[in-house]
Amino acid sequence: MMKKLIAGNWKMNGSLAANDKLLKDILAGMGQATCEVAVGVPAVYLAQCQILLAGTSIDLASQDISAQESGAYTGEISGAMLKEFGVRYAIVGHSERRQYHGETDEVVACKAQRALKCGITPIVCVGETLAEREAGKTDEVVKRQLAAVIHTNGHCISEVVVAYEPVWAIGTGKTATPEMAQQVHAVLRAQLKAASEHADCIKLLYGGSMNAANAAQLLAQPDIDGGLIGGAALKAQDFLTIIAAAA
Ligand code: G3P
Repeated sequence: MMKKLIAGNWKMNGSLAANDKLLKDILAGMGQATCEVAVGVPAVYLAQCQILLAGTSIDLASQDISAQESGAYTGEISGAMLKEFGVRYAIVGHSERRQYHGETDEVVACKAQRALKCGITPIVCVGETLAEREAGKTDEVVKRQLAAVIHTNGHCISEVVVAYEPVWAIGTGKTATPEMAQQVHAVLRAQLKAASEHADCIKLLYGGSMNAANAAQLLAQPDIDGGLIGGAALKAQDFLTIIAAAA
């Protein structure tokens, strides 16, 4: 039985003081979590969080990674740099980066490839907008986004984590129903099975207003292997409730 993964995505939130309190409160309440746990922190806080998480079972994630190895790419952060701070996961292709930074399917695929080359597990985000869902294009959109990652990474796709994040559910409180989420996860699982014999071992996370109240129902779905958590990850008790639901 594959261990579920609960990964927080703090987005552009936090401060040295708030991070210290949040992580200490989470660690104090964690006990022996039976799922994998990670926190995706702003890059400027990687050093602080690496120290706070040292020796604990919580892994560190970055919220992005350069597709480039190194060089004249002002403002970007390489996989090698992230590894120096103990980063295990890199969130790539988040809808907010696709929207605000013009990240294409191809760029996302290259970022995932770069992460794998650096020994970092990419958490590749896919998801449709409300307009795409209402036009009946959900499956087409997420399959196109994932296909780019499969095409670029070949058999290494088995080392990727995929997060289905319907854009219309992110930060809105409008969570996909467990049935809606499972339907898309099943589509992604089938696509991965056509690409890899290890598809059943690839974690498929749900993200988009997963919270303390709905986590158990979502995580009970057969193809939902965890969650990528935004707002609820910033509240220790809510994040702990979601972790407990992933047992
Ligand atoms: O990456 C996770 C994030 O997009 C979900 O945000 O606040 O809807 O849980 P939220």
